[in-house]
Amino acid sequence: MYERDPELIWWNGRLTAWDDARVHVTSEVATRGTNVFEGLRAYWQPGRRRHAVVYLRRHLARLEQSARLIRFPADESAALVKELLDGVPRLIQALNHQGDLYLRPTLYIEEGRYGWRPGQVRLGSYIAGYPTDARSEAPMSCIVSSWRRTSDLAVSPLVKVGAAYQAFRLPRIEAALAGADEAILLNAGDTVAETGGAAVFLLRGGTAVTPPLADGVLDGITRGVVIDLLRSRLGVPVVERSVPRTELHLADEAFVCGTLDEIRAIGSIDGLPANAAPGPVTTAVRELYLAICTGREDPPDQEMLYPIPVERLRPSR
Ligand SMILES: Cc1ncc(COP(=O)(O)O)c(C=O)c1O
Repeated sequence: MYERDPELIWWNGRLTAWDDARVHVTSEVATRGTNVFEGLRAYWQPGRRRHAVVYLRRHLARLEQSARLIRFPADESAALVKELLDGVPRLIQALNHQGDLYLRPTLYIEEGRYGWRPGQVRLGSYIAGYPTDARSEAPMSCIVSSWRRTSDLAVSPLVKVGAAYQAFRLPRIEAALAGADEAILLNAGDTVAETGGAAVFLLRGGTAVTPPLADGVLDGITRGVVIDLLRSRLGVPVVERSVPRTELHLADEAFVCGTLDEIRAIGSIDGLPANAAPGPVTTAVRELYLAICTGREDPPDQEMLYPIPVERLRPSR
C-alpha cells in the first residue's frame, strides 16, 4: 500500500523498530485475523505547526467497543486502549513527518485459540503510521458488487474486526477486473450498504440520503461528521433510509465518505456516468470538511481535532 515501511511502530506500549514488531505465523491473529482496528487521520496544520487527529477519542472508543463485541477480555482491552491514547501522539512526534498521516491502532490476540477469558489469551497492540499526503480528488468509478455485505448475524458490520475485511477482498478484485476504483456492496435485503471503507450518500432533490446502520453500515465517524455538517453548516436536510440499487443512478450527485477516502464524488456506477460529479453539495461538504481538518475553519465541537504539537527538539549536548 505504501512505497516503503516507516522506521518506527508503536508496539505493545513503546516505540519499536518497524522490523522488530513480530508475531508467529501460527498465532491467533495470523491464523484467524483476530484483531480489531481503527483507521485514523492526522492532518498536518502548517499554520499551527501541529498535527490534528480527527476524533481520536471517538475512534478509540469504537476500538474498545469492537473488542468488547468480539469478546476480547474487557479489562485488558481497556488498559491497552488507554495505552494507545498515549501512543498516538508519541508515534506521530517520533515519525517527524510534516504532512498528513494515516494511523492504524490495533488490538490483537496472539495466543489463545478462540479464547475469550482473561487467562486464556495473550493480547498485543500496535499503532502503524504512514505518510499519506496525496489526496484523491478525482471522482471514483464504482461497480455494484455481486458479493454481499455480511449480515449482522454473521460478522456484524458494526464491528471492525480484521477477519471481516476478507468480505471485501472479492468485491475489490471484482471492481479491479471491471476497471473500476471501488465496489459498492448491497446487503442481504438487496439494498445499498457501503463500500469496504466508506459510507455512501446520494443527493435527491436537495435532500441527502444515506442508508441507516441497520442496512449493513459501519457507524462511521466521517458519516457522522458529514451528517452534522450538511445539516448544521450547509442547511442540507439528511434522511437515513434504505436505498434501492437503481436509485444510485437517479441521484443528482453521490459521494462516499470515510477516514481514508475523506469525501469523494462518485463519477460513475457500473459504467453509467453520474448526473453530476462532483456535484455542488459534494464539493461544498468536501471543502468544508478539509478546511476544518487543516485548521482553516472552526470544527463543529472541541473534540473533533485532537492537537499534537511538533515535539520540541531537545538541545544537543
Ligand atoms: C467498512 C467500513 N465502512 C466505513 C468506514 C468509514 O468509517 P470512518 O468514517 O469511521 O472511517 C470504514 C473505515 O473505517 C470501514 O472500514
